[in-house]
Amino acid sequence: MERKGSSMFATKIGAILAAAGSAVGLGNIWRFPTETGTNGGAAFILIYVLFMILFGVPIMVTEFAVGRYGNKDVTHSFLTMSDGKKWWKYMGLMPVVAGFLVLSYYAVVAGWTLYYAVVAALDGFSGKEPHEYSEFFSSFASDEVKPIVWLVVVVMFTAAIVALGVRRGIERGARIMMPLLFVFIVVLVVCSMTLPGASQGVDFLLRPDFSKVNGATVLSAMGQAFFSLSVGICCLCTYACYFRKDVNLIHDGLSVAIIDTLVALMAGFIIFPAVYSIPGLSPDAGPSLVFVTLPNVFQHAFGDVVWLSYIFSVLFYLLLVMAALTSSISMLEMIVAFFHEEYRASRPLVAVLSSVACICLGALCSLSFGSLSDVTLFGMTIFDFCDFLVAKLLMPAGSLLICVFAGWVVKRDNMYAELTNGGVVNRYVFPVYYAIIRYVAPIGILLIFFNGLGLV
Ligand code: ALA
Repeated sequence: MERKGSSMFATKIGAILAAAGSAVGLGNIWRFPTETGTNGGAAFILIYVLFMILFGVPIMVTEFAVGRYGNKDVTHSFLTMSDGKKWWKYMGLMPVVAGFLVLSYYAVVAGWTLYYAVVAALDGFSGKEPHEYSEFFSSFASDEVKPIVWLVVVVMFTAAIVALGVRRGIERGARIMMPLLFVFIVVLVVCSMTLPGASQGVDFLLRPDFSKVNGATVLSAMGQAFFSLSVGICCLCTYACYFRKDVNLIHDGLSVAIIDTLVALMAGFIIFPAVYSIPGLSPDAGPSLVFVTLPNVFQHAFGDVVWLSYIFSVLFYLLLVMAALTSSISMLEMIVAFFHEEYRASRPLVAVLSSVACICLGALCSLSFGSLSDVTLFGMTIFDFCDFLVAKLLMPAGSLLICVFAGWVVKRDNMYAELTNGGVVNRYVFPVYYAIIRYVAPIGILLIFFNGLGLV
């Protein structure tokens, strides 16, 4: 039975914006440029786009179909769609755990972005020497208290929106933040492209360096495509149970993927021209690109036009904050929906309790830049381990799980009915989709996964 009233997205555009909000996030603006910068520029982008089309979109629409058909949180949707097989309900717990891990470490970086937005707004970046930006970031990230305070602010804000509910919180938040995000990003691209040396940045982004491509690069590109679309952790599966029955899932999946890819590319067109506008800076600075290289660039790229530097940095960090929030909301919603459906607990209560748990794990991730920097798991700090676990293991594994579930467990007729809206739309696309989900994606994910880990 279709949900009613405020527990559904009111409009089709609201549904697309919420799903796009889940997809567009730090993955596009922080992680994508980082990965592109260290993995061969356009060569990485080409592989990434291929994964988006071949695996990302089919897996995303599968999550949509499972969620809308199941009409409940991810575990109950798995249960319903498997015709009541309890085992699949337990499998549905994997994305819930993965979502919890993602949110915990994701919110740490989201907290940094919020802090940077505030510092930028207070004009705290101006007048520094280049080396001071690095010291500023290191001393902030390694602090025992400050980043955790910002982490708490971000998670509690996320919890407040989720507690408000699907229509009043999530949809309204997406309808406000996503258009603002698009406006900011366009303004920033225009500003960045006018900087001296911008063409070198564009060249870096568009000229492929295939010498840097190997098994690990391909695994990174796949992980990035999954991370960017939020697939494999079933946030989109949860959102889809709030979709109306007349939403065309394949159409919406494609729209979200196009928006997500455009935002990632536009982030590249903001960041790399800016980096190349200052001689001596490197595009492969890694995760610190956004927090060390860019504040330096923003202060010096516009010369004497100080107000432009100010506007540029404030807009850029606000862009990051909004992108991070719309994604965090979807992660928390997935967790909250599970506890709400499973234990009948009230949404606000579950939102607060889940947030507290995320803050505890997030604090450990944050401290891995300071007092816990010596604590390593498989040679990685806690933060790096969470990133590795999520993007390179859990998201691909969750995506594989979804493919096996939809392709081999769920009845083909049920998938057909859901993705064609009862035989009305997408009738000719469905067989292609089904072949991908049943054969191409699972085999591809397994091969790339083992190859990237050096096992085949
Ligand atoms: N899809 C989210 C992002 O790109 C997780 O940040």
